[in-house]
Amino acid sequence: MSFMTTRQFPATRLRRMRRDDFSRRLMRESLLTPADLIWPVFVLEGEGQREAVPSMPGVERLSLDLLIEEAREAHELGIPALALFPVVDASLKSTMAEEAYNASGLVQRSVRALKDAAPGLGLITDVALDPYTSHGQDGILDEHGYVHNDRTVETLLKQALSHAEAGADVVAPSDMMDGRIGAIRQVLEQEHLVNTRIMAYSAKYASRYYGPFRDAVGSAANLGRADKTTYQMDPANGDEALHEVALDLAEGADMVMVKPGMPYLDVVRRIKDELRVPTFAYQVSGEYAMHMAAFDNGWLDADEVILESLLCFKRAGADGVLTYFAKRAARLLAQ
Ligand code: PBG
Repeated sequence: MSFMTTRQFPATRLRRMRRDDFSRRLMRESLLTPADLIWPVFVLEGEGQREAVPSMPGVERLSLDLLIEEAREAHELGIPALALFPVVDASLKSTMAEEAYNASGLVQRSVRALKDAAPGLGLITDVALDPYTSHGQDGILDEHGYVHNDRTVETLLKQALSHAEAGADVVAPSDMMDGRIGAIRQVLEQEHLVNTRIMAYSAKYASRYYGPFRDAVGSAANLGRADKTTYQMDPANGDEALHEVALDLAEGADMVMVKPGMPYLDVVRRIKDELRVPTFAYQVSGEYAMHMAAFDNGWLDADEVILESLLCFKRAGADGVLTYFAKRAARLLAQ
């Protein structure tokens, strides 16, 4: 009897709801579906071309004919959109990045062909000059080698307009110049392209996690040991991300993005809590490469870890994730 009265039982047993699958499912707060995924792809000139990216095992640069097949598959898997990145031939790179706004350039042609082949698949194009500059920076340099903001914006306007005219559903400025969202919005309105959406890379950090991407698009060698710290954000800052996002929204962005992803999920959460707008995050090339290295060594279970990593973006408040795992994850989710 004394045993019964002095014994302390936990008032709350959180394990009770975790005991069975039915109650775990009932109380689950976040859900990952193929509709949360955006697939970044690399397009090459030519036909029947397929190139592996050594620092991104499983990722290939594809010529347009092969990319179209892959895009159709992604659409069938329920992935809402692709993010398109060009691999630009060295002979087309220059200090002024004129190729960026060539109406029959690789991106512009790819947009037309992909919209033709899979009209329901959203197409997001990257607005930034780094694939087109001979020095690998995202903008036009002044006489001191500093990226000149306003001259760069002038070129970004032409680039964004050429993408929208080719039929891009979303233009995504990833360059981090000041005032570019407002300038692009104005030009789109003037040209009656009122429904072209802008996904702003608002909180884009000067991150070393982009290394494999720079290999993939072939800008790494041109950039050399230079960095992008005079325009991309300091990884130490969080308040500044909210400032950037608020400005981009005021200038006319429809969606905002945080990049990289996993080390920056606190930033995603703060944006979602404070601004409550469509918020995306980019699980970047370095995050992909780290995962693949562990999978290929048998250190982590690939399928489970991919889905966990993407679900955590949802929990952090992201409405969607740009991820090189998009197709693999969508296949897993279909099972
Ligand atoms: C270019 C751009 C970069 C990425 C997307 N757009 C690289 C950079 O800023 O140097 C990185 C994507 C990734 O690492 O997966 N403006």
